[in-house]
Amino acid sequence: MSDRSTGAATWPRLKRPALVVAAVGLLFAAGVVALPGTAGAATTLGASAAARDGRFFGTAVAAGKLSDSAYTTILDREFNAVTPENEMKIDATEPQQNQFSYANADRIVAHARGLGMQVRGHTLAWHSQQPGWMQNMSGSALRQAMLNHVTQVATHFRGQVAWWDVVNEAFADGSSGARRDSNLQRTGNDWIEAAFTAARAADPNAKLCYNDYNTDNWTAAKTQAVYRMVQDFKNRGVPIDCVGLQSHFTGGSSYPSNYRTTLSSFAALGVDVHITELDITNAPATAYTSVTNDCLAVARCRGITVWGIRDSDSWRSGESPLLFTSSGGKKAAYTSVLTALNNGAPPTGPTTPPTTPPTVPPTTPPGGGSCTASITPGTVWADRYNTTVTVTGSTTWTVTIDITAPQKVSTTWNGTFTWSNNGNTMTIKPNGSGNTFGFTTMTNGNTTARPRITACTTS
Ligand code: XIL
Repeated sequence: MSDRSTGAATWPRLKRPALVVAAVGLLFAAGVVALPGTAGAATTLGASAAARDGRFFGTAVAAGKLSDSAYTTILDREFNAVTPENEMKIDATEPQQNQFSYANADRIVAHARGLGMQVRGHTLAWHSQQPGWMQNMSGSALRQAMLNHVTQVATHFRGQVAWWDVVNEAFADGSSGARRDSNLQRTGNDWIEAAFTAARAADPNAKLCYNDYNTDNWTAAKTQAVYRMVQDFKNRGVPIDCVGLQSHFTGGSSYPSNYRTTLSSFAALGVDVHITELDITNAPATAYTSVTNDCLAVARCRGITVWGIRDSDSWRSGESPLLFTSSGGKKAAYTSVLTALNNGAPPTGPTTPPTTPPTVPPTTPPGGGSCTASITPGTVWADRYNTTVTVTGSTTWTVTIDITAPQKVSTTWNGTFTWSNNGNTMTIKPNGSGNTFGFTTMTNGNTTARPRITACTTS
């Protein structure tokens, strides 16, 4: 339609043509409106993910790069979520104890929210990137400092951060299925649930995630261990809403073919699942497509975050693992991801997860039977307390138990006990006295910590 007097396009029966033009322009800018010839297809990662039942497609962002217009051009165009790459970590937000520093994180949050992007907060409690003062702490003082940090930071960002990685990387690599040793872990096995509880109290509307790496392969001991922790939290009402799989398929680990089973199995516990730090060595289009399709196939997989925009932004830039070249060009993997998002959920593949893990739990060696060890608290004195442990399911068991320093076991009975070098982990085998053993623990000033069973294996 044209206006005869001016030759300009006109808008029939519209009272506010300028506003409509502006609105349509915004929709195009956000990639929501299809270009001619691509009917229904969104043109950016964020818009396409949003069209898939409101999913997000995010990226890690570094505050120092917000002044790089080549960087922000891609960021602003393509993504609908961000994760500060380092700016919300403990060393950044509390460099001196009780002196909080939010300027860089605030800049990222303001930039993102100004464009309607959601923010994944990363991370409130972690063994790594701790400020020096925290690295030097232990015991109840560290526990209190950690909880104060969680409370202060979650309170500062209340209403601005949609999801928090409350705890990051708390499990050990390898076949143990155990917690990672750290100063936080040594404050007691309940440090993770304590952090989640504090985060919930500080920001009741934020979704609270547990985030880890090497938890992509469903049969890996670490994956199974995180699965059981989340299951336990859900069973006991510990506040947890989501699980983050970092999915760094760099540095030697690769995309596992059972990844979708991992996503759907976590989802079946009643938590959302996020792919939080995706990068893949040399960015193969096939693996990026598979990850995208796996997420789309699982309703509770709510989004994907890549760990940086251009290859030059990557923490593993030598592996060129991202979706954009160092000069900002779209790589083949970018096109594959966008196409997969635009195609929507793939029709095949397991969407109903197994109700129980399909593998032998990591605490049971292949070929062995299974055993369960349970604690019965005993007499408590001013300076010490007794614990008995009963093993069921096997008579040829090995139980490992962690003791929180400075507590120390002083007496044992009805088992053969051996000790780790630091004295904090003991391994117990039968000594012919049956399936119940016991020990006395000196509190040495910490009257609250209690022994924690970390494994029961059979041989
Ligand atoms: C990395 C950052 O990308 C680097 O800039 C920093 O030097 C180290 O940390 N798992 C995580 C992320 O949870 O926080 C890490 O980020 C990468 C591994």
